[in-house]
Amino acid sequence: MKPKLIITGASGFLGYSLIKEAANDFDVYGLYNKRAFTSPMLTSLHGDITNYISLGNLIDDIEPDAVIHLAALADANYCQVHPQESYTVNVEASANLAGICADYNIPFLFSSTDLVFDGRQGMYTEQDEVNPVNLYGEHKALAEQKILSIYPLATVCRLSLMFGASANGKANYVSNLIQQLRSGQPVSLFHDEYRSMAGTQSVSKGLLKLLGKASGIYHVAGEERLSRYEFGLKISEVFNLEKNLLKSCSQKDIEMAAPRPADVSMDITKAKSLGYEPMSVADELALLAFN
Ligand SMILES: NC(=O)c1ccc[n+]([C@@H]2O[C@H](COP(=O)([O-])OP(=O)(O)OC[C@H]3O[C@@H](n4cnc5c(N)ncnc54)[C@H](OP(=O)(O)O)[C@@H]3O)[C@@H](O)[C@H]2O)c1
Repeated sequence: MKPKLIITGASGFLGYSLIKEAANDFDVYGLYNKRAFTSPMLTSLHGDITNYISLGNLIDDIEPDAVIHLAALADANYCQVHPQESYTVNVEASANLAGICADYNIPFLFSSTDLVFDGRQGMYTEQDEVNPVNLYGEHKALAEQKILSIYPLATVCRLSLMFGASANGKANYVSNLIQQLRSGQPVSLFHDEYRSMAGTQSVSKGLLKLLGKASGIYHVAGEERLSRYEFGLKISEVFNLEKNLLKSCSQKDIEMAAPRPADVSMDITKAKSLGYEPMSVADELALLAFN
């Protein structure tokens, strides 16, 4: 019999890829909330993580061997204008779930973000101070802190901006960008926002590698520090698209609800020492078939 793994946020972007990677080794139970989600690779469950009692009952019923917690309000602009909802989902529910896993003494992995940093330095290590510049980052940083104080054996993985396939071929920012370039439309991308972009397949493998084997904070991202504009250039190379349609612009040219840090690239040496091996951005992009 395979060990049982609960994945919250199974209906989300990263959930789609993590389920595929986990299904060989685990009996996967995937939790969704608003977007009903089924797949032959998992037992699909409906639940709201802010309902502490039903969350506890769910864990009581399934008796999982581990939990990977991806569910979140992950749109920084949305969180900025819905602070209470962001706190309830991203902080309170995450800390409650960590507490339940601590009671059961089972591995718990929390997905955090590079946006816990202020972006003034870049190539951040796990030892660097967090100093978020928007509410989403603030709430994720607070959740990290609460989770590790409630359950010091928990694994906190800070993820960067990801790319990959979406469930049912649904559009995402990379497929939209490719579509725009294919139809000859110019696309503006920031030349002054740097991230350690990573593919969801690499990240999913990384999370599974760390689950139950590492406690504390780990940076699980790509190895290349790229601006969004440079990322666009890679996409145009891999998919053979007209790179002259890519226009470079500055963060300050676009008004957004949530302020954005300039350089939140991360050092991934610590995760690599435990066997995490992300593909290069170009190699993982090449695996994606965006028609
Ligand atoms: N995508 C990125 O580039 C990125 C970068 C850094 C960190 N992260 C982190 O990685 C994790 C996964 O991100 P993602 O891009 O996959 O997010 P996503 O596509 O926005 O999905 C969010 C997931 O959370 C679920 N959810 C939200 N509120 C819930 C609630 N009250 N109860 C139960 N489930 C709830 C959603 O379920 P329904 O849709 O069914 O309601 C959905 O499955 C998040 O923790 C995010 O902060 C993502």
